[in-house]
Amino acid sequence: MTRGNTDMIALGSDHAGLPLKLEIIQLLEERGLKYLDVGTYTDASSDYPEYGRLAAEAVADGRCSRGLVFCGTGIGISISANKVRGIRCAACSDCFSAVLSRNHNDANMLALGARVVAPAYAKMIVSMWLDAGFEGGRHQTRVDLIHKIEQEQGLE
Ligand code: RB5
Repeated sequence: MTRGNTDMIALGSDHAGLPLKLEIIQLLEERGLKYLDVGTYTDASSDYPEYGRLAAEAVADGRCSRGLVFCGTGIGISISANKVRGIRCAACSDCFSAVLSRNHNDANMLALGARVVAPAYAKMIVSMWLDAGFEGGRHQTRVDLIHKIEQEQGLE
């Protein structure tokens, strides 16, 4: 995966995740962070794989350093994002898991469910995730093994 714009955050959601994405945009703007919102932009019914993929590709190709994606549960859009090579998207509904997804898994994307997590708590989760770093060491070995799965799957 190429490393590109390190301060740009990719955002994506389906219609169900849109209200929470808009709340998180407020948080990013308060923090002075730039973002690339790949859609959806309306509450018309839409398909989460499309937006999970677009946001994940923006991270994978280096336009963004990290990504935040939203759907009703956070599950469908995280599964979709994780199909893109180089993406490690963690679906989290608590601060502990979100921080550990950075510390141990070097998660480059976070998925949240707008029907699961209240906006105020979601903002706390996102803030802590953005601030958390990767610990490396034995965790790097394991992240490398995840990458190896991608490589070997690609050979089939
Ligand atoms: C949309 O109704 C809903 O299925 C979607 O947002 C998501 O929760 C799927 O995982």
